[in-house]
Amino acid sequence: MDTYLVTGAAGFIGSHSVDYLLATGHKVIGIDNFYTGNIKNLDQALRSSEFQFLELDVTDEHGLAALFSAHKFAGVLHLAALVSVPESFSKPALNFKTNIAATDTVARLCIDNQCPRIVFASSAAVYGNSEILPNVETARPNPQSPYAAAKLSSEILLLTYTKSYPLEAVCFRYFNVYGPRQDPNSPYSGVLSIFAKNFQEGSPVTVYGDGEQTRDFIYVQDVARANCNALTAKRISSNYYNLCTNQAISLNQVLTLLHQYYPNVTPAQYIASRVGDIRHSRGDASRLQETFGISAQVPFDKGLKKLLAAKSP
Ligand SMILES: NC(=O)c1ccc[n+]([C@@H]2O[C@H](COP(=O)([O-])OP(=O)(O)OC[C@H]3O[C@@H](n4cnc5c(N)ncnc54)[C@H](O)[C@@H]3O)[C@@H](O)[C@H]2O)c1
Repeated sequence: MDTYLVTGAAGFIGSHSVDYLLATGHKVIGIDNFYTGNIKNLDQALRSSEFQFLELDVTDEHGLAALFSAHKFAGVLHLAALVSVPESFSKPALNFKTNIAATDTVARLCIDNQCPRIVFASSAAVYGNSEILPNVETARPNPQSPYAAAKLSSEILLLTYTKSYPLEAVCFRYFNVYGPRQDPNSPYSGVLSIFAKNFQEGSPVTVYGDGEQTRDFIYVQDVARANCNALTAKRISSNYYNLCTNQAISLNQVLTLLHQYYPNVTPAQYIASRVGDIRHSRGDASRLQETFGISAQVPFDKGLKKLLAAKSP
């Protein structure tokens, strides 16, 4: 049975990916330093004898080297990151250390320990505020934050290593991932987890701007499946791939759906849009479909229902 390392395992996407890998018959070692993650996300995984968790900082090269010596990993899913764009501005050194230097560390340890593959969590943020939609991988990246620059740098580093070393790398540019376990208490968390929490508590939501801004929302189970597929497929093509639905959903459309489920919640309050907020975001999903033969399966209304069902007490 192959063993996979998941960094950022106690996070939102990490914990779902761990569950998916375990459910498909793999052994998993998960690490996290709980910067934004929570051990509760791993409740299900911790019941499996094929899962082991270690509290470890991904920037701790000695700790990671010991882990690579103790296990023969068939692949690494590298998700651990400083995930907040505003925090990447206020803490650029931490952004560099966590979002660039740690990628290099993980990649070098893979090469030195004959771990053949890394699947890396990049972001649609690398495209910046593009006028031309959908975002296609061939478009010139235009990062607007230290966070986006770090994701792009990590992609370049990993894909350059694949040319010179026995390493394969899949960099997934996630669009707006949503689903259960996304922390709604952070002001920078996914908008859907915040909206869902407010509606469930019966409190009105605040919308920045006119609500006509659109996002390409992808359900977390689709992301976990793609991560697992990229890690375990016999043959892959090292490259960067959008992980998206190619569907644009406006915040007002989300609110209309939520009002159908919770008709008594007071209408949203609209305030001035935030500086730097992207107006529209949508990705072209064809490269992923053509290379891996997979695409997002969960339609938005179904995913939203699953999110609300999971959050109900
Ligand atoms: N959620 C999205 O919509 C989205 C979109 C684009 C990219 N991403 C990327 O996907 C990955 C997972 O994001 P998420 O949404 O699950 O966020 P998350 O905050 O739930 O997960 C990140 C995890 O990394 C851990 N972590 C942070 N620094 C660490 C360190 N130094 N050592 C070990 N662990 C550390 C955190 O504690 C957390 O558990 C991140 O790389 C993020 O940048 C997410």
